[in-house]
Amino acid sequence: MNSLKKLLVATTAICSVTAGAFATDLEVTHWWTSGGEAAAVAEFAKAFNATGNNWVDGAIAGGGGVARPVIISRILGGDPMGATQLNHGRQAEELVEAGLMLDLTDIATEGGWRDIVNPTGLLDSCTVDGKIYCVPVNIHSWQWIWLSHKAFADAGVDVPSNWDEFTASADALVAAGKTPLAMGQQSWQSSGAFGVINVAIGGLDLWTKINVNKDAEAAAGPEMAKVFEAYGAARVLSEGSNVQDWNQATNMVITGEAGGQIMGDWAQGEFQVAGQTAGVDYTCLPGLGVNEIISTGGDAFYFPKNDDPEVTAAQKELAKLMISKPVQVAFNLKKGSLPVRGDIDMSTANDCMQKGLEILAAGNIMPDGNQVLSADTSGQIEDLMVEFWNDTSMTPAEAQAAYAAIIAEAD
Ligand code: GAL
Repeated sequence: MNSLKKLLVATTAICSVTAGAFATDLEVTHWWTSGGEAAAVAEFAKAFNATGNNWVDGAIAGGGGVARPVIISRILGGDPMGATQLNHGRQAEELVEAGLMLDLTDIATEGGWRDIVNPTGLLDSCTVDGKIYCVPVNIHSWQWIWLSHKAFADAGVDVPSNWDEFTASADALVAAGKTPLAMGQQSWQSSGAFGVINVAIGGLDLWTKINVNKDAEAAAGPEMAKVFEAYGAARVLSEGSNVQDWNQATNMVITGEAGGQIMGDWAQGEFQVAGQTAGVDYTCLPGLGVNEIISTGGDAFYFPKNDDPEVTAAQKELAKLMISKPVQVAFNLKKGSLPVRGDIDMSTANDCMQKGLEILAAGNIMPDGNQVLSADTSGQIEDLMVEFWNDTSMTPAEAQAAYAAIIAEAD
């Protein structure tokens, strides 16, 4: 073999070893399986693979209610993934307290996360005993209703500008063969809608008394009775909505089969994938058009501890990427969520996202339920709301009594 060929063989061998030394596979679990969600998570994967590492996608279908138990049991059971999505808040509390999660404080400090993350409450949700265990990647607010221009045109009524106008349009929608309010069967959907109606009808102070201060008396009180009456009326509006997944309900709005859907702003990703334009094909009303507010829910990534230093290095590289400016823009534009940092150019965001950015900038924000209620209390409320939503023999008063009992024991 001549000397040139020997040199080429040797160089190739060195390159492959060098590349191999830094190309780390990282299994990443999440529950983003809809069209919009998949488009967004692809931005993370693309950015991570561009570093020479390898994003091994671990999508889990069925929504957070299915995925979270799988994720948590894998970590507790000694079969951890490299990284995982969870919601902002208290879902990883036990995992962190068990010492199973990677401390990211060094890269958070080096990256100045405390100065760039807005609102800083998102970072507080990642912080246990002064150490940071997750990287916040977006802000998703539940406080929206999405309205189909086609459904209202077919029904011969104007697109509503608030909740009262929406409920008043229900008869015309039904007469036109539409489902007024699209709702999927997963429990977190009807429970999420309850929280939105709670704030719109009862106001933020009442919501805070109950969810932050765990005031069971307020939960059982007359103001909350009005909320349960409104929630009971909303239940009637969803008759005919026989779909399971949230994005199937969103599709009912996209096609004009339903008038509206109360859903977090991840619904935007579906309208975008369907090629629909905010203000032209659909309208978004923050706070149901009653009290424009943004709840600071959303997603963060956590990294189970790993003995392999190359894996730990890759985990930290992914965490830094996820909060970097270009990736924040690329991911959030596809996800329909707001970025966790205020120092990036979101001018290409659509009208609904711009509305969200303006409300966020004005500071009209509230915590997400996941940030103030334990996973156990959230689960009990979800079970109650899906029972009430599907059992029309349960009265609003009965649901309220059960709700107040949950709040009395809430943590
Ligand atoms: C939420 C999550 C969002 C969204 C939604 C539906 O928990 O924060 O990112 O995708 O679930 O899957």
